[in-house]
Amino acid sequence: MTKNNGYALSRRQLLAGAGAAAAASVTIPTGWAIAQAKPLKVGLMLPYSGTYAKLGENITSAVELLIAEKGGKLGGRAIEIVKLDDESKPDKAQENAQRLTKRDNVDVLIGTVHSGVQMGIHKVVRETGTLTIIPNAGANAVTRALCARNVFRTSFSNWQPAHGMGLALGKRGVKKAAWITWDYAAGAEAGGGFKEGLEKHGGQVVKNLTLKFPETNFQPLLAQIPDLGVEYVGAFFAGGGAVQFVKEYKAAGIKVPLCGSGFLTEGVLGAQGDAAEGIETALHYGDGIDNPKNVAFRKAFKDKFGHDADVYAVQGYDAAQLLAIGLEAVKGEIEDEAGLYKAMRAAKIESPRGPMSMSPSQEVVHNIYLRRAEKGQNKVIGIAAANLADPGTGCKLG
Ligand code: BEZ
Repeated sequence: MTKNNGYALSRRQLLAGAGAAAAASVTIPTGWAIAQAKPLKVGLMLPYSGTYAKLGENITSAVELLIAEKGGKLGGRAIEIVKLDDESKPDKAQENAQRLTKRDNVDVLIGTVHSGVQMGIHKVVRETGTLTIIPNAGANAVTRALCARNVFRTSFSNWQPAHGMGLALGKRGVKKAAWITWDYAAGAEAGGGFKEGLEKHGGQVVKNLTLKFPETNFQPLLAQIPDLGVEYVGAFFAGGGAVQFVKEYKAAGIKVPLCGSGFLTEGVLGAQGDAAEGIETALHYGDGIDNPKNVAFRKAFKDKFGHDADVYAVQGYDAAQLLAIGLEAVKGEIEDEAGLYKAMRAAKIESPRGPMSMSPSQEVVHNIYLRRAEKGQNKVIGIAAANLADPGTGCKLG
């Protein structure tokens, strides 16, 4: 790490006292013991307000859950959490990331949710060298042409889930679909993945309908759908916006089935109610994944926070799991970058989503499940793409 993360300082301070300690026959702490004494600062830069607030809260809860399960320490180091509400505002992203990395001197940054904000964080952490773990934002570039040794992602690339959805429709023989979304990186890149998946099987996206993030004036776009002659409408919306979109789609009485990147119905089925019934989506998580890790995670999450976990919680939990793997490998000595990154790159994580590993571009490799919304659950009905890795185009790591 190029910055001073606090460990070197405390070591200097302690060694400065060594003369006095020797005179008094006191044992001088080893480097390991010094490291253990100082908590590691983990900055959570996430949205705690706005349309993505619930996503940020669930990520935070799950990070805190994993740390609590490990007795408050990772790799023997106590963890101190510093939270910052990024409001999902890209124009404030660099300033916020600088506050965490330069003013608060965090050792690790976990963030964020919104792809545009991620690009601001990325610019800052590529300069500071701060270890960064992305627990949601899917901006393709951060694990493609702009990949960086200190940046890992435990969520997805925007391309991945929507690509699974496009493949599933294509295999079904769908020839014409439309894509509807917010006009920013996540919506556009998910649309790209959807199109590519559909085209692999001879289908095509004949129309892209967009509105500005986080606007919810869907009516002018919905009005165009019946005349498009499409068999499906694919969508990327998430959080509060997804609740409203799904309700308005149903209320408009449109006969074309709606599908999408799984965020459309993830964590929001309760609020969407009957309007979501039958919607198919593709995502790296779903209800009814019957592995012991998922069962234990869902129970622990619900016991601690009083509500169900969702994909955002899983991604936060896995961000903390990945950090734990790295820190355990270097016994909490975060300055051992080579050892830290080697362990994180090689991590095989038992995730509630199922098996998960890291690609050479430090992007998650995982199954993309096909789900159908049924009675308040995103029920897994198949695998849309097994062990799907992002292409990592342009990344020179590895
Ligand atoms: C994004 O901006 O990358 C994003 C936001 C919410 C859900 C999924 C992706």
